[in-house]
Amino acid sequence: MIKKLRKAVLPVAGLGTRFLPATKATAKEMLPVVDKPLIQYAVEEARAAGIEQFCMVTGRGKTALVEHFDVAFELESTLRERAKSEALEALHGAQSEPGSIVTVRQQVPLGLGHAIWCARAFIGDDPFAILLPDDLVLADKPCLLQLAEAYYETGGNVVAVTEVPPEHTNRYGILKVGSDDGRLVEVTGLVEKPAPKDAPSNLSIIGRYILLPKVIDYLALMERGAGNEVQLTDAMARLIGEQPFHGLRYEGRRFDCGDKIGYLEAQIAFALKRPDLAADVRAFLKNYV
Ligand code: G1P
Repeated sequence: MIKKLRKAVLPVAGLGTRFLPATKATAKEMLPVVDKPLIQYAVEEARAAGIEQFCMVTGRGKTALVEHFDVAFELESTLRERAKSEALEALHGAQSEPGSIVTVRQQVPLGLGHAIWCARAFIGDDPFAILLPDDLVLADKPCLLQLAEAYYETGGNVVAVTEVPPEHTNRYGILKVGSDDGRLVEVTGLVEKPAPKDAPSNLSIIGRYILLPKVIDYLALMERGAGNEVQLTDAMARLIGEQPFHGLRYEGRRFDCGDKIGYLEAQIAFALKRPDLAADVRAFLKNYV
């Protein structure tokens, strides 16, 4: 029986060193693209895929992420008094169902695999999604919804994948590919950040996963991999052959918002999708290019 997907883990403990000084006193996941913080894009995408329960794996200095989804009583009543209905409306997506967000702390930065393992009590015996909020995907159908459909189709582990230039394989988890129908690919191996000469393909994992809970057993071994970190990719690799494991070539465009250029490009791409902004943005861009 394929269990319904209801849970998502959001690893948000990272220091955001690539965005200093902006991230000195605030979480990098609070950086906005247009007018919405990265964390909210991730939560809204997850909700669209049927996710009801969230676990943020946080660390020191990350309280704004939890605050963001709380009821802002004073702010809302002030806006109501002043009849600012548009502003009130804008707060909508930043509201969460009572009890739907929990947090755990990753006290030490031992890697993505360790962060996911920190959520083990939340995951329990259920399938779960992982969204890395740095990876922002612009798509007609939300990327995690596409992945959830692939999960219900295959009943196993699925990761969202995209082709990267061969010289960039050392930035990502890379797939070794079995059968491939152009959309779903069978994963026969996984390597974290291989040098281009060692990469089994140029098909890379982006920050969207749906995994079965078995992966936690392998994470618990706490084996160190690339960068001397506990790598999620290495634990996932152990599932291959035991459980179905597929990559999904999702439809949409991914922006690496952990990187300055990716983040700037996301601002432009998302602004150009906004009916209230697109014409003005297009007009001023002409002054620069
Ligand atoms: C992590 C994963 C990597 C994946 C990437 C997607 O790397 O370890 O496998 O391809 O996210 O963004 P990080 O970006 O944390 O170095």
